[in-house]
Amino acid sequence: MVPGRLSRSFYNNGTFLTSGDIVKIKLLAVALSAVLCVNAWAQAPIVIKFSHVVALDTPKGQAAERFKMLAEKATNGRVKVEVYPNSQLYKDKEELEALQLGAVQMLAPSLAKFGPLGVKEFEVFDLPYLFANKQALYHVTEGPVGKGLLQKLDAKGITGLAYWDNGFKVMSGNKALIKPADFRGQKMRIQASKVLDAQMRALGANPQVLAFSEVYQALQTGVVDGTENPPSNMYTQKMHEVQKFVTVSNHGYLGYAVIVNKKFWDGLPADIRTSLAKAMEEATTYEKAIAQRDNDLALEAIRKTGKTAVHMQTPQEQAEWRKALMPVYRDMEGRIGKDLLSAFIKASSGK
Ligand code: LMR
Repeated sequence: MVPGRLSRSFYNNGTFLTSGDIVKIKLLAVALSAVLCVNAWAQAPIVIKFSHVVALDTPKGQAAERFKMLAEKATNGRVKVEVYPNSQLYKDKEELEALQLGAVQMLAPSLAKFGPLGVKEFEVFDLPYLFANKQALYHVTEGPVGKGLLQKLDAKGITGLAYWDNGFKVMSGNKALIKPADFRGQKMRIQASKVLDAQMRALGANPQVLAFSEVYQALQTGVVDGTENPPSNMYTQKMHEVQKFVTVSNHGYLGYAVIVNKKFWDGLPADIRTSLAKAMEEATTYEKAIAQRDNDLALEAIRKTGKTAVHMQTPQEQAEWRKALMPVYRDMEGRIGKDLLSAFIKASSGK
């Protein structure tokens, strides 16, 4: 104790605490709170916000829920996945911006929506009649060509984890869309893809890019006359209520890239990243197993409502659409790249 100067001391249970004691108590309190904070942080789960724009009862909606269950189980709760379906958090274009900013960690946008991000090569998936069937598609998405495309996202601060499937698209409208000439002057909603723009123009229609969350109202109010989507999206967004005709053309494909913010993904503890990658693999297998069934059930459900006339395109009618749409390949080769286009055609033919 310094003589002549009243040291600050306190009386505590019969003994005086010196200022040195008080400093020690304070240091102990700080150390204790630091341990508690670290411990609290160590307990706080890593949160993955997974945002998407479709309804829960769609192949992508169900797969996102399955990934959540698998990821939380595999990490013993060290990861918490918050799924935000149906454009609840972000709609089309916003979601990619939010991912790059780190406001969300995971998305599964349609492959037709990467052009505005500057990765226009993904629009190759939008080419009409590119895939003869799902096996041809899987040759691409499960092989080096598909993998190479996902790697193009790295430069955008995005890591591509997997491809999820939805299905082949049908055309819908408020007039019967049987022959190419039927599309003339029709305002057709499309996703933000130059290939889809070229597709609708080749049919004589006027393409209009709209966010998926805006399609029902745009059809209801006549902002657009028709659109295209797999049946599962049509049905779950109740588009059949505002579309009198559907043509089952299977003229194009709609699939997804499951993507994460690259900084977030690279920053995860290695064991967590490995567990999440395995959970994604299992969720992808599940998603591909339900996609076709969900779309078949949705088409049947649309038919049963009696609100929409469902026309199964004949081979002759398809031949006319193919002829009208072939110029899209020539017109879009420069945008997609000649080499990528030929690699896709080769891979999708199973070679
Ligand atoms: C669309 O915008 O039509 C689709 O990409 C929606 C989706 O995610 O399936």
